[in-house]
Amino acid sequence: MTDAWGPNRWWKSAVVYQIYPRSFADADGDGMGDLRGVIGHLDHLQGLGVDVLWLSPVYPSPQDDNGYDISDYQDIDPAFGDLDTFDELLAATHARGMKLIMDLVVNHTSDEHPWFVESRSGPDSPKRDWYWWRPPRDGMAPGAPGAEPTNWGSYFGGSTWAFDDATGEYYLHLFSRKQPDLNWENPEVRQAVYAMMRWWLDRGVDGFRMDVINHISKDPALPDGELPMGTAYANGGAAFLNGPRIHEFLHEMHQEVFAGRDALLSVGEMPGVTVEQAKLYTDPDRQEVDMVFQFDHVSVDRGPDPWAVVPLRLTLLKAVFGRWQAGLADVGWNSLYWNNHDQPRAVSRYGDDGRYRVASAKMLGAVLHLHRGTPYVYQGEELGMTNAPFRDIGDFRDIEALGQYAQAVEKEGRSPEDVLSVLRARGRDNARTPMQWDDSAHAGFTTGTPWLAVNPNHKEINAAAAVADPDSVYHFYRRLVELRHTEPAVVHGDFRMLLPHHEQLYAYTRRLDDTELLVIGNFSAEVVRAELEDAAAWASAELVLTNVATPPESLTLGPWQVIVHRRRLSR
Ligand code: NOJ
Repeated sequence: MTDAWGPNRWWKSAVVYQIYPRSFADADGDGMGDLRGVIGHLDHLQGLGVDVLWLSPVYPSPQDDNGYDISDYQDIDPAFGDLDTFDELLAATHARGMKLIMDLVVNHTSDEHPWFVESRSGPDSPKRDWYWWRPPRDGMAPGAPGAEPTNWGSYFGGSTWAFDDATGEYYLHLFSRKQPDLNWENPEVRQAVYAMMRWWLDRGVDGFRMDVINHISKDPALPDGELPMGTAYANGGAAFLNGPRIHEFLHEMHQEVFAGRDALLSVGEMPGVTVEQAKLYTDPDRQEVDMVFQFDHVSVDRGPDPWAVVPLRLTLLKAVFGRWQAGLADVGWNSLYWNNHDQPRAVSRYGDDGRYRVASAKMLGAVLHLHRGTPYVYQGEELGMTNAPFRDIGDFRDIEALGQYAQAVEKEGRSPEDVLSVLRARGRDNARTPMQWDDSAHAGFTTGTPWLAVNPNHKEINAAAAVADPDSVYHFYRRLVELRHTEPAVVHGDFRMLLPHHEQLYAYTRRLDDTELLVIGNFSAEVVRAELEDAAAWASAELVLTNVATPPESLTLGPWQVIVHRRRLSR
């Protein structure tokens, strides 16, 4: 497949939809979503017009981190179904003209994966070196407090090292102790992973979303990190974020897995990636990955204190996006997202989930989707689903929320209320409440007891109501997807940020040949006029899309309004 913009870059005009199977649809009534549930709702996805489905992990797993702890890479967890059901889903997805990509979690395995079971069996195990085993710190007793090989803190609270009594050594786990890190320095590890990836591609899947893939190369010296005052552990990121051999490993993976195969998609999740690094990762000539997930735009409400929510400054958000759009304008490609299973709901975070929920959800969608890059929609985002009303820590299920709460409250003496208010605003369970299909009990997600409580607002916010209402967030998202499919300026146009210092309006243009689009979103409940240089010309241009019933008056935007104009330029 070659188009005018290069071979196999089909994903530039595609929209990806992320399914978190555990919370999507439960067909067998056990309270947890499953593959049969996904098959039952493919109409919803086809109706939206999306091109690719990304399935969060469905492999056998002890579910310590909801499937991001895999104990067998080449099977399906019985809670989700089996390989036959998977094949059926894949065929049904393809029959509807959509592709399907898998989650690839190879920075770590589960501690119940046979590779790790073998590795921990003793220092002479042939797989000992497949993971990061280290003795205690020099001169310290094995297992004593502070004897961990480095001072790093895990993402989920506590040390990154677990002590193994049987051998007197520690193993590294950047996430939970049930997620030991694989040692990518060992070529056998890499070959085993590539073989597994080929096996899935041979089965017919269309690519991978690669979990924390910029963490796989570690500085083998594993140096201590700097320990900030008042914290129990250091951030060891300097030793494993975009580590010394990362480009070599990703290029090797490309050669071993992707080369010679057609029409695939690879997207690397990369916390801590910079624009300059992303340019290297996504430069097609370097053959590493097609695009990356960066985190800058979902970090603007974080400050130096992890237990404080910083209110959004729109100028900062625009500076971040502007930097990424400019940085990858000529080489590389952006992915665009507000939501995923790790982020709170965008309409609650950057919009207004009360009075202006519908308007602000649409505005956020339009502002994001019309940037240059491939947009990702997370289940429920197309309904304008909101954060959940968590009362206390007992309402949370996420290992990250529970682990961080324990560390902050018990080890660092933080006030439980401060910690809770941040978890309510930012906790990952906000994204994981079950998909709201209808207004019946448990939102039509399950006939059993859901593993995480359904948001009570499903009475009003649900797919059945949204599909039936032509003015819903769902139909607005459908039009956004359609616009990407039909207007080449959305896909290929140059990006120019306007009004970078404005605190309420997010405005930019996209230009391709003689077509120019103007997008303006109002991030406030006030009526705001956009003062643009060529306002008169734009005011009379075609209005392609807006989210409120009355069209704008000369670029004056109502509360949370978005407008998209198109004009033809004479050359
Ligand atoms: C990133 C995933 O998105 C997240 O859900 C998971 O907890 C960590 N990686 C560890 O796999």
